[in-house]
Amino acid sequence: MKKTKVAVAGYGVIGQRLADGVARQDDMELVGIADVTPTLSIRALYDSPSPYDLYVVDDSMRASFESENIPVKGNFNDLLSKSDIVLDAAPGGVGIKNKEIYKKKGIKAIFQGGEKNEVADVFFHGYANYDKGLGKDYLKLTSCNTTGFIRAVDCLDKAVGVERVVVTIVRRVADPGDTHRGLVDVAMVEKVPNHQAKDLMLIMPHIDATGALVHVPTTHGHIITILATPKKKISVSDAISLFEAHPRIKVVDIAKGFNSNTAMFKYARDKGNKRADMYEIALFREMVALSGNNLFFTISIPQESVVIPETIDAIRASLMLQKDGKQAVALTNKYLGME
Ligand SMILES: NC(=O)c1ccc[n+]([C@@H]2O[C@H](COP(=O)([O-])OP(=O)(O)OC[C@H]3O[C@@H](n4cnc5c(N)ncnc54)[C@H](O)[C@@H]3O)[C@@H](O)[C@H]2O)c1
Repeated sequence: MKKTKVAVAGYGVIGQRLADGVARQDDMELVGIADVTPTLSIRALYDSPSPYDLYVVDDSMRASFESENIPVKGNFNDLLSKSDIVLDAAPGGVGIKNKEIYKKKGIKAIFQGGEKNEVADVFFHGYANYDKGLGKDYLKLTSCNTTGFIRAVDCLDKAVGVERVVVTIVRRVADPGDTHRGLVDVAMVEKVPNHQAKDLMLIMPHIDATGALVHVPTTHGHIITILATPKKKISVSDAISLFEAHPRIKVVDIAKGFNSNTAMFKYARDKGNKRADMYEIALFREMVALSGNNLFFTISIPQESVVIPETIDAIRASLMLQKDGKQAVALTNKYLGME
């Protein structure tokens, strides 16, 4: 089997997880990673038994890596020349600049949620609009929150149709180690609708969405409550069965200890998942309820790893590795261990 050659630009929170995710796909090969400076994550990678090949974004950056005994395989141009597609996980706003390099090289690229939508031809979600990404040169993933709750809303939508959702997000303020954020002892609100509700309407334009956003000083995952108006009435138990059947949703029980964002993190760490990553969103069984015909439910989003599966779906769509979205997501799920 000819393997699709994938490059990752930016080896930060998302880039290191994308690199691992690609390395796990039997039909893909991770050619290497590119970065601008020997960060803590890159030092950790080179202190580990089997590091990925590293390329510098610019040759002037070589010395800073080599002085740390981190071998440099080549520059960005070398990496892109060997690759079929690049996953750009540079900080938000840098991807649009990197896009000029990708355009000149004639290489396809997938961008992350921190970029403006204009960076891409298509705003993409593996389950909700795979077809729109087929053959496109530049795709942009939804943010971590939007990726996670679109999974659940799309799951419901495909079964009974959804007219309207109200989405309230309790947002972790920073990733672990992000000391520069400095938000403590505060719950900061934003005006409605939150950008995630607006993003859902871009991906699923047939659904009317609004909702609130509250930033809170925690680092391990967001909590989202969703009030969905289905087109057909659905019972709580039928809704739970739908969610349970979804490979990227893990229905968890508060009674068994899954009672917080950090419970998911602890579970993944105790299970031995690398970096305590979880690709699945958690959906709290005892928090599914009906209000009239409206379905109310709550999910937890592992923000550092949730976008990895949908980004790999985007590779499949852009390079048309699978024309059928269902086949594509099934392969991604299989290689990431989410069958
Ligand atoms: N952190 C999250 O929880 C999260 C979740 C979903 C999506 N995202 C999105 O993913 C993207 C990356 O975010 P992150 O949190 O991984 O950032 P990060 O700061 O952890 O990592 C970015 C990496 O890119 C490197 N870099 C800087 N300039 C570069 C360049 N010109 N070319 C290549 N690499 C460069 C940095 O050195 C760093 O290693 C953003 O768009 C962000 O909005 C982040």
